[in-house]
Amino acid sequence: MEIRREKTPVAEVPCGLLVLPVRPGGSRAPDVTALDRATDGRLLREAKKRRHDITKRGTVFVFQTHGELPAEQIALIGVGGDPKAEVPKEIWRRLGGQGVDLARRSRCKTVAFSVAQAGSRAAALGAVVEGVLLAIHPVRNYKSNRGSSELATCTIVGAPLSKAAADAEARSTHLAEATGFARDLINEPAAVATPAHLGSIAQKMKKDLGLAVRVLGKRELTKLGMGAILGVGQGSANEPRLIELVYTPPRGTRGSKKGPVALVGKGITFDSGGLSLKPAVNMEIQKRDMAGGAAVLGAMRAIARLKPSIEVRGYVACAENMPSGNSYRPGDILKTHSGRTVEVMNTDAEGRLVLADALAWAASGAGASRPRWMVDVATLTGAVTIALGRNVAGVMGTDGTLIENLMEAGHEAGEPMWELPLVDEYMSAMDSLVADLKNTGDGTAGSIFGGLFLREFVGDVPWAHIDIAAVAYADKAQPYVPRGAVGWGVRTLVGLVERSAKR
Ligand code: BES
Ligand code: MN
Ligand code: ZN
Repeated sequence: MEIRREKTPVAEVPCGLLVLPVRPGGSRAPDVTALDRATDGRLLREAKKRRHDITKRGTVFVFQTHGELPAEQIALIGVGGDPKAEVPKEIWRRLGGQGVDLARRSRCKTVAFSVAQAGSRAAALGAVVEGVLLAIHPVRNYKSNRGSSELATCTIVGAPLSKAAADAEARSTHLAEATGFARDLINEPAAVATPAHLGSIAQKMKKDLGLAVRVLGKRELTKLGMGAILGVGQGSANEPRLIELVYTPPRGTRGSKKGPVALVGKGITFDSGGLSLKPAVNMEIQKRDMAGGAAVLGAMRAIARLKPSIEVRGYVACAENMPSGNSYRPGDILKTHSGRTVEVMNTDAEGRLVLADALAWAASGAGASRPRWMVDVATLTGAVTIALGRNVAGVMGTDGTLIENLMEAGHEAGEPMWELPLVDEYMSAMDSLVADLKNTGDGTAGSIFGGLFLREFVGDVPWAHIDIAAVAYADKAQPYVPRGAVGWGVRTLVGLVERSAKR
């Protein structure tokens, strides 16, 4: 899709659909007034006649211009809120998604948005573009009949032609591309998106984006003593991998000596549960158990393009959790990279096992210097859906400042999180008779036990864990998110890295 920034007055923009956000008192806003005048007052008269309170959040009034204007239709969309406060980014992003929906429904090829009413027009422009690009990303599918009719152009009117606006647009373009990339990987069947496939996707990022990439296979994992990743993966014909990607800021950038930060993703390409087999109903959704890993790959992609002034390392622990004659068993004891041993109580609590190795490896600096902080992203527990529902991810960790920054970055990205406590008293439920630790708790507080288990492997590196099991996938379309994989976390992780680079 082509994005255009236009200086043209709002009444002179040719397009299939022109979207105008309306704030409280906004019927007197310059862009609304201009369009009302251009239609001889018909626009606001008709809105009134149909009893549309166009300033109320969520109100949509679609107006046919019948050739009076170069725009074929105008949609007035109420954005509500305090007239004196800035309209939040998320509202602009949703406006972008809504515009795409409306335009598609009336088969428009071009959609335009006015951001003339925004306080920071560059920021509004960025958010609208982000919403539009996230909304149009098609689910790549295997249907023999593909739909066509796509939007070709998105025009933003009333935005400055400044460097800030160009930067905001470029940032949104990279973020949306990286999110779409993550979504595509998650939506792919597990027969395609195997650990080896994820490894070769990462290798391709080396070529295309100049990241340093290493893919560790069975031999290297054995040498490094990654008994947990190997244990989880041993039942599958698709062997496990540990992917490492390193972004180094351009030489001479301020802050480039600021010690690395690490992003770690759960990359279970299919989670059947293993010998502790999951029920058949809904098992197909477990192809998305690599959504955390996809978020890390997507974030690294955007980071390579946005070039923040801080070293970033990405790790994705990939394995397929399958039942077979070679599978790891309940009662088996795995020796992790950290040297600590784990008694497997349930082979379906595999995510924390592969992450134990990846986190310990990341915390050690992976053969180089130790990270300033690390964040892992994982579809770790079904219990997080019970605790927080489908719109909020769970977050836990050892460092208040990191969690605060992470939650703020999530809020900015429209990816909200809520902190769950790591209750020390619960640790004793993971005591094992024969090993250092069991991989399950006592059947209560499933998500917290996941976090408590992971904490055992992070050493003293400030760390946070995001449980995205409930938010990684949209069962029905949301504003700017089509049904299917969300690509949750890509934009939050990038935002967090950018914050860290600035401080
Ligand atoms: N991948 C699942 C979590 C999951 C469940 C993600 C549903 C998406 C939808 C994870 O590996 C898992 O099986 N967790 C178990 C842990 C339990 C065995 C301690 C769970 O949540 O039941
Ligand atoms: Mn599982
Ligand atoms: Zn899993």
